[in-house]
Amino acid sequence: MCVVDLSQKQIDAWNSDSLPIYEPGLPEVVSECRGRNLFFSTDIDGEIKRADIIFISVNTPTKTMGIGAGRAANIKNCELCARKIAEVSDSGKIVVEKSTVPVRTAQAVRRVLECNDKGLKFQVLSNPEFLAEGTAMEDLKAPDRVLIGGVQDEDGIKAAETLVSVYANWVPREQILTTNLWSSELSKLVANAFLAQRVSSINSISALCEATGADVNEISRAVGIDQRIGRRFLNSSIGFGGSCFQKDILNLVYLCETYGLHECAEYWNQVIVMNDYQKKRFTEKMVSSMFNTVTGKKIAILGYAFKKDTGDVRETPSMFVVRDLVLEQAKIHVFDPQVKREDMWIEMDYTCGMTEKTHPGLDKAVTTSPDAYSACDGAHAFAVLTEWDEFKTLDFERIYKGMAKPAFVFDGRNILDHAKLREIGFEVHAIGKPDPNKFSDL
Ligand code: UDX
Repeated sequence: MCVVDLSQKQIDAWNSDSLPIYEPGLPEVVSECRGRNLFFSTDIDGEIKRADIIFISVNTPTKTMGIGAGRAANIKNCELCARKIAEVSDSGKIVVEKSTVPVRTAQAVRRVLECNDKGLKFQVLSNPEFLAEGTAMEDLKAPDRVLIGGVQDEDGIKAAETLVSVYANWVPREQILTTNLWSSELSKLVANAFLAQRVSSINSISALCEATGADVNEISRAVGIDQRIGRRFLNSSIGFGGSCFQKDILNLVYLCETYGLHECAEYWNQVIVMNDYQKKRFTEKMVSSMFNTVTGKKIAILGYAFKKDTGDVRETPSMFVVRDLVLEQAKIHVFDPQVKREDMWIEMDYTCGMTEKTHPGLDKAVTTSPDAYSACDGAHAFAVLTEWDEFKTLDFERIYKGMAKPAFVFDGRNILDHAKLREIGFEVHAIGKPDPNKFSDL
């Protein structure tokens, strides 16, 4: 197995002791296999020639301009890969779409491959990836399912069987599903849309809980115990982030619109509308609780990654909270065990269009702290925005002593012991949790 990339910097990092991404369990696997049956190289042409099966695993970001801007996925990189494969191959191959793509992308890939001038025959398969960051290695070892889509003719079925036999080395055969190409491509978008929909559904209920005195955690438990609904993915939060959910739903919305299915597009778009509402609602609650002003106040942000056990900040909800607080002229101190300051600014620029140039003073307004204690020292409030386990066991007495009073806590992930924090003296606000000052009948 050889991983190729245009970027020498990336490949060098993959060949070094400090891998370019943080993912639990990954360094162990790479150090065991690298140089044995796993290689990283920039020799793209050579490796294409040598391969029997090629996985196209490039990014397909949401278009920022032109037709479908803000919604459609840009499959330019997929097409470029197909063109490169057609150009340099000297034997037929199985080409696998691993990237998340709009339905019917395989058709474009197939047509480009067919245009090779050597009469070579290629088979195109769709094999979407369902692993989640932070648990990627476990998901890879024991996936709920592997999905392989192919053309339903003799050659297509044979190609799909070849890929099935690769996965069958560690995945039980009954968990490897084979479908037609379009079902496979679309299933990935639908799976992410359903997962994100659950988060938006429970988040919409969290707002109702705060208004009525119900407790969203109790509701998740009561609802999720019904096996038809299921327990997982019902944790209320400040909103979902990550590189997939929003992008894939926008892609689905755009597809629906392209086929004239406006009601379907509108239905799925609401999942995003609700997510934006939740992020905004959280910041507004912070400001209104702190006497309607955070100007000049130090606020500690605990957690910047879009979920725990990753350093990934793409579409992270923390970014939107930080952005809105900076616009309110608060002094932000961020602590995250894995996020690099440089990555925060790259994403802030890419997604929010906010840089030191567009917002002079931005760099100074946001300090990155070496630990949670220094982030909270002298702060008027701290907000937990990523559910890192280490935040649960902080010395909150110590933190309380060092903070301005009243000391506010905003738990955006409902991971802290709120009763204990109130005993210490904090004023606690959490997602979908009844406020004891507001409801005397709890
Ligand atoms: C997701 C899909 O789960 C995975 O199958 C697909 O391959 C890629 O996209 P990922 O983005 O890594 O994976 O993370 P995921 O665990 O799905 O969480 C996405 C976001 O939803 C995170 O911000 C997370 O905090 C949030 N979330 C998740 C909640 O707010 N509540 C939940 O109950 C679950």
